[in-house]
Amino acid sequence: MSLDTTRINQSMTHFDGQDAIWLFGYGSLIWKAGFPYLERRPAYIHGWVRRFWQGSHDHRGTPEAPGRVATLVRQAGAICHGMAYRITPETLGPLDVREKNGYLRLVTELHFEKSERIEGLVYIATEDNAAFLGDASYHHIAQQIAGAKGPSGPNRDYLLNLAAALRELDVEDPHVFELERLLPPLKPTKE
Ligand code: SIN
Repeated sequence: MSLDTTRINQSMTHFDGQDAIWLFGYGSLIWKAGFPYLERRPAYIHGWVRRFWQGSHDHRGTPEAPGRVATLVRQAGAICHGMAYRITPETLGPLDVREKNGYLRLVTELHFEKSERIEGLVYIATEDNAAFLGDASYHHIAQQIAGAKGPSGPNRDYLLNLAAALRELDVEDPHVFELERLLPPLKPTKE
């Protein structure tokens, strides 16, 4: 698969004809919407865990020094908490561009509190995409995040903003919180 998944995503017809679609966000889409939405609600999906296993060459790193951002990895029995947005189909175009570095739209069931559920979509970077970095030690991942930055800013801000947003949602995510704990402190800038 090429590094740009925009075209693959735009060939999806599953939601054609609907005037609104539920989108599940679990990474930057939790704390930085940056797109118009009709409604926003905490939600969760089954069978996935959040992992900093996706390389970022375009937002939080560069082709020479990719950062690491969140994707979802299948795990039986797991629950991944995040934020759901009800969007119009026109919003998908810009989202496909934002998520173009390896993420594919996937149809999934979103759960809300009080056993409400609905079909929606999520962007997932699977292990067969060219930017996938995969597992590494927590120490290695934290060091890589600490050293990377790209057009959207330092990679560490992505991690810290995500950890803060999860805390605000009252979500316990040991993977994210351990990386936050291991992030080396910022070096003081010289006067
Ligand atoms: C998401 O937030 O749902 C996708 C990954 C990202 O953009 O950080």
